[in-house]
Amino acid sequence: MKNIPDYISEIKRMKEEKNAIILAHYYQTGDIQDIADFVGDSLGLSQKAASNNADIILFAGVRFMAETAKILAPGKKVLLPDMNAGCSLADSCKGKDFKKFIKDNPGRTIVSYVNTTAEIKALSDIICTSSNAVSIVNSLPPEEKIIFAPDRNLGNYVLNKTGRDMIIWNGTCHVHEEFSLEAILKLKDQNPEAKIIVHPECELPVRMVADYIGSTAALLKFTKEDKGNCYIVATEPGIIHQMKKKSPEKVYIPAPPRDSTCGCSECNFMKLITIEKIYNCLKSEKPEIKMSKKLIIAAQKPIRRMLDISAKMVTEK
Ligand code: 13P
Ligand code: SF4
Repeated sequence: MKNIPDYISEIKRMKEEKNAIILAHYYQTGDIQDIADFVGDSLGLSQKAASNNADIILFAGVRFMAETAKILAPGKKVLLPDMNAGCSLADSCKGKDFKKFIKDNPGRTIVSYVNTTAEIKALSDIICTSSNAVSIVNSLPPEEKIIFAPDRNLGNYVLNKTGRDMIIWNGTCHVHEEFSLEAILKLKDQNPEAKIIVHPECELPVRMVADYIGSTAALLKFTKEDKGNCYIVATEPGIIHQMKKKSPEKVYIPAPPRDSTCGCSECNFMKLITIEKIYNCLKSEKPEIKMSKKLIIAAQKPIRRMLDISAKMVTEK
């Protein structure tokens, strides 16, 4: 068995040799974020997957993210170091049940969060991420009625912001629904100067005490630009690695869960990816994300629609 520095130098060598890039989500461990070619939130990662010159994309994240990369770059080999890296939120919305939901609520535009399987994406009119959910919904004509899936917390957040006619699928993320309001308020009592920053997948009581709500990228930007110096962070703690890198002088306190085996709020799926698995995956070029052409074409349309709207929003800013 190699030690970590050996794995890292081998990964770097193989990346060059194979013209491969590593895309890592903010919830990955710090060592993985540090060897990645790009670290980002779901939106940034899909934008990067859609536009790069690599032959191989190794995705350090969860399966729906790697699938999104494959959908956007079907000609490339997309690798995921552990196929068990799923997502409780994506799992909460199964194709068969969602088809029935759509049938029971006809005539609505289907907006799905990127945290879904390719099958759900293929059933959707447009995809959104936590960074652009409000703008995507606002981009739809006001008379359009909406189905929003699968996260009920993000859905309610978007509903509140937009006031649109929305029916929301009842799914949640097991990490974000577990934050303890009581423990957060206790931390705030002990650190009155701290600002509470919250991912929109958190439940309403936690969102209600937030000083700022945003996607992982938005939370990172906030801690970088804000004048404060202490933050209670209610999202997966992997993001704190980047916060510390961007503003090392500030203090970041991970918000505790109500209950969890690790006593922390780590996403067990995200944390299945390790440096050793990345090494083995890049070496063997397995496991690889494989999807039928038909599914790729059907799922690509609503993702491309989101990317086009997001690109337009950036140009208009
Ligand atoms: P972001 O859209 O902020 O990357 O969040 C993805 C995610 O999985 C949140 O749990
Ligand atoms: Fe899925 Fe939640 Fe993990 Fe994000 S934190 S990947 S939504 S299970």
